[in-house]
Amino acid sequence: MTALPYDDTVEQIQEDEARLTQEIVARMAAAQARNAERHRHAHRDAHAKSHAIVKGTLAVHANLPPELAQGIFSQPREYEVVARLSSAPGDIHSDEAPAPRGFAIKVMGVQGERLLPGLGGHNQDFLMVNFPVLAFGTVQDYPRFLTLLEANADAPQALQRAVAAAARGIENVVERLGGTPGATVQGLAQKNTNMLGETFHTQAAIRFGNYVAKLSLAPWGELQGLNEQPIGEGFSAMRDALTSHFAKQGATYELRAQLQTDRAAMPVEDASVLWDEKASPHRAIATLRFDIQNPYSPERQVYGDDHLAFNPWNGVAAHRPLGSIMRVRRPAYESSTAQRHRLNALPRREPGSLADIPD
Ligand code: HEM
Repeated sequence: MTALPYDDTVEQIQEDEARLTQEIVARMAAAQARNAERHRHAHRDAHAKSHAIVKGTLAVHANLPPELAQGIFSQPREYEVVARLSSAPGDIHSDEAPAPRGFAIKVMGVQGERLLPGLGGHNQDFLMVNFPVLAFGTVQDYPRFLTLLEANADAPQALQRAVAAAARGIENVVERLGGTPGATVQGLAQKNTNMLGETFHTQAAIRFGNYVAKLSLAPWGELQGLNEQPIGEGFSAMRDALTSHFAKQGATYELRAQLQTDRAAMPVEDASVLWDEKASPHRAIATLRFDIQNPYSPERQVYGDDHLAFNPWNGVAAHRPLGSIMRVRRPAYESSTAQRHRLNALPRREPGSLADIPD
């Protein structure tokens, strides 16, 4: 199947989108303010708990075919990268409760027209989670997810059940559409294993130069099988597992693009629809490499949690986020980042290179 060219008609503004967007951002900001009041410190409104902040490199593969040599991947070159590995809830809970895991990467020093020049810097962020789809994948569905979170905000155990319910939501959505739910989705509610072995996904689509794609990050070499390894006990068991991993060895991932080859079966407006890998496989575009390091020194943690911000809209026009769930993320991340930097009295500054990230 051939990749379909990008044009502006891949996106359609949804019914009531402006009002729903406002409602979502306001409800998330209120939850974040409540948490900040309780902790006397502001965290992210989602993915509040980090497990590692790692420095690495992203090497774009040489001789990519023209449909993959797009945007920041158009030339074989090596970029510096900082990544923050996290759990999805908007508050700090024990790692003994399974949760969706996040993997955000900031590719530094990219060229191209910026989506939001006001953010400053020359970086491209890609934010990924360890499922291929987002259960509440439209601006109309997302408020239901917030209701689930709000109802369980004060009870981590109940929150765990809410997360499990969300996972079932994902399965239902996938099953309704005739797809096969992936092992990660099926295992979400019970599995609590080393996140380094997971495969991470943008879930929603992005512009991929002249095309449209979803990206994924797949573990390589020594990481394969780690997603079967339980992380053990302890409030910060994931951080401990990641810190002991990076004390002894590095980590390699393959960054891959799944190009849109069918507008109807691979929509951009509903991020709950799984794009069939048989119709369009995930194809390697770059190698992400992290060497041995201390991923959680006090300096690293404070920088990663309080100073650093990741945002799917922090990037170039060639990789513009697409679809209603991506459009709502534009004000949502701005609101969360602005509020936490304001409450923590910290300036907002994009790193210029790895030299800005403490060891
Ligand atoms: C499309 C699927 C999504 C993915 C893959 C995703 C992934 C992530 C990741 C990995 C982070 C942590 C970034 C970090 O380490 O700093 C994050 C943070 C966040 N996410 Fe999402 N997310 C998704 C959808 C959404 C939606 C729909 C909303 C809201 C409507 C949202 C709101 C946020 C907020 C507010 C933050 C914290 C931003 C900050 O203060 O720095 N996300 N997301």
